[in-house]
Amino acid sequence: MADHVEEIKSKLDILDVVSEYVQLKQSGSNFRGLCPFHQEKTPSFFVSPDRQIYHCFGCGEGGDMFSFIQKIEGVDFPEALRILAEKAGVEIKQYDSHNTSQRTKLLDICELSAKFYHKILLESSSAEEARKYLEKRGVSSQTIAAFQLGFVPDQWDTLFKFLSKRKYQGSEIEAAGLVVSKQKGSGYYDRFRCRLMFPINDAHGQVVGFTGRVLPSKKKKEEREIAKYINTPETEIYNKSRVLYGLDKAKLEAKKKKYFILVEGNMDVLACHQAGYKNTICSSGTALTTEQAQLLKRYAPNILLAFDMDMAGQNATKRGIDVLLGQGLNVKIVNLGKHKDPDEFIQKDGKGWKKALIESLPIMEYYFSSAFQPYQSKGKQLLKIEDKKEITKKLLPVIAKLGDSVEQGLWLRKLAEELSVSEVFLRDALQKMKTPYSYSNSREVKKPTKEKESMEEQSAKGFLGLVLKNPKLGAEFFKKQNLLLDIFPSLESQKIAGLIRDYYQKYKKIDQLKIKNKIKDRKLENYYDFLLFLAEKNFTESNDIEISQAISSFFLALKKKYLRARMDEAMNELREAEKAGQKKLIEKASKRITKISQDLAD
Ligand code: UTP
Ligand code: MN
Repeated sequence: MADHVEEIKSKLDILDVVSEYVQLKQSGSNFRGLCPFHQEKTPSFFVSPDRQIYHCFGCGEGGDMFSFIQKIEGVDFPEALRILAEKAGVEIKQYDSHNTSQRTKLLDICELSAKFYHKILLESSSAEEARKYLEKRGVSSQTIAAFQLGFVPDQWDTLFKFLSKRKYQGSEIEAAGLVVSKQKGSGYYDRFRCRLMFPINDAHGQVVGFTGRVLPSKKKKEEREIAKYINTPETEIYNKSRVLYGLDKAKLEAKKKKYFILVEGNMDVLACHQAGYKNTICSSGTALTTEQAQLLKRYAPNILLAFDMDMAGQNATKRGIDVLLGQGLNVKIVNLGKHKDPDEFIQKDGKGWKKALIESLPIMEYYFSSAFQPYQSKGKQLLKIEDKKEITKKLLPVIAKLGDSVEQGLWLRKLAEELSVSEVFLRDALQKMKTPYSYSNSREVKKPTKEKESMEEQSAKGFLGLVLKNPKLGAEFFKKQNLLLDIFPSLESQKIAGLIRDYYQKYKKIDQLKIKNKIKDRKLENYYDFLLFLAEKNFTESNDIEISQAISSFFLALKKKYLRARMDEAMNELREAEKAGQKKLIEKASKRITKISQDLAD
């Protein structure tokens, strides 16, 4: 495992890994951006390409590419290893079953099942109808391959038998959501039967679950009503609210184009990708979650919503919009016209679809036009008071939610114009309404709680960071000064100071890496990384003279603070001794005080 880690680290750059999630800009020898682990407006998240680590000065998160992936994807170490190995093109041999984590096992099961279903669709005679159906719906063989579409015939145990032969336990296959345990007696049966199979991938392209679509003939044959689509239930690897169908294939294109096309159904995703709109993903017919919106925001700031506009569709659209706006994404609405969904639109009128994308309306304009739509035939002048009230009731709350006050003013004016009422009244109503809730969600509001750091700790960090970052200047300082570890205020700063001092005494120089290698525990290593980032952040533009001065003044501040505390102690001793009339003690304390005063004067 350790070998894999080193190999991956040698092949991947942390900048590339982090850049998939965070927009980074160069800043001195580091890169900085907005921290993905807490909400902030000014970037305090730093990545060091030299040291291949990151650190956030806002929330304190830090580490290497492995801990970054663990944290941002919410996965354990083996999983992060797997994700990065794939990126690096490093093949990881299957571990023996003992140390395979459960997650890894479930991922293996899903991957194998997807391959199995895919092979059946391509080759089995039982999939004849499925192949015809896809053909009829215009799904090309390239799309079938790219999305690894599959088929499972009308039997109770096709997949179960296959996986059992590969030595997977029924309980494991059940944990992957692919079989269901029989209610009567023991044993399992396949969850998906006689269905077109769509593997659901996570953002990295790993299969984590499936959606199965019924074939029309089966639907007719069954007496009871059967669901058109069924999905894997939530499992250890399939978290519905974190996954979006198509994202693994859409993310890079979306990053390039700066927008996603969000559709409702799996077939819509296939049609869009096939027609060249590879930045398309779908919400699988459910309302978007905040996590999904955050996921999208990593790749692109704009979303074109192309949902169907029947009543149900309108609701889904609405809920989707709120969540997306809540994450600060820009939302535009694609008008599907008379078409049921993007799939149908593209099949019937590819050019029209392209035009509809270009003409998509920013969300506020969409709200305006739908609020006015019922009264369209009347014309502005004929609006009744009640109509105006009704329209205002719909639009004021949306305007109130806008974060930008300039934009708010703009839309308020437009509303006033359209309704021929005074803007003053509307503004008044807006004030009275007060925002019922703001768009920021709880996660955003939560600020990292960090105690205010003592001056000593700040000086200690400043001193140590500069000495490590500038070994030559640091060594010059050590030549002149003896370092008393007691002046360092925390255990960590004392330990690092001790390591530097010992190393200097032995080799008469300072070596960043050699000193780092002496650190044995993770917490101290983090502290060390932090020190370097701090020095880089605060002294990017300083020259040697300024840095030497800073080293000295941090040191002096620490020393003074330390001596003053000792002085207080000595004064107390003196007072006690005087009270008790103990001559010897008085003498001792006085000597101490003289000595400390001299030191302080130095
Ligand atoms: P649609 O009914 O619009 O299906 O549901 P569709 O994608 O257009 O598929 P076709 O064109 O009829 O073949 C939209 C999405 O809602 C989810 C699916 O993800 C589907 O793609 N859905 C729908 C379910 O999960 N269960 C259902 O029973 C129906
Ligand atoms: Mn459809």
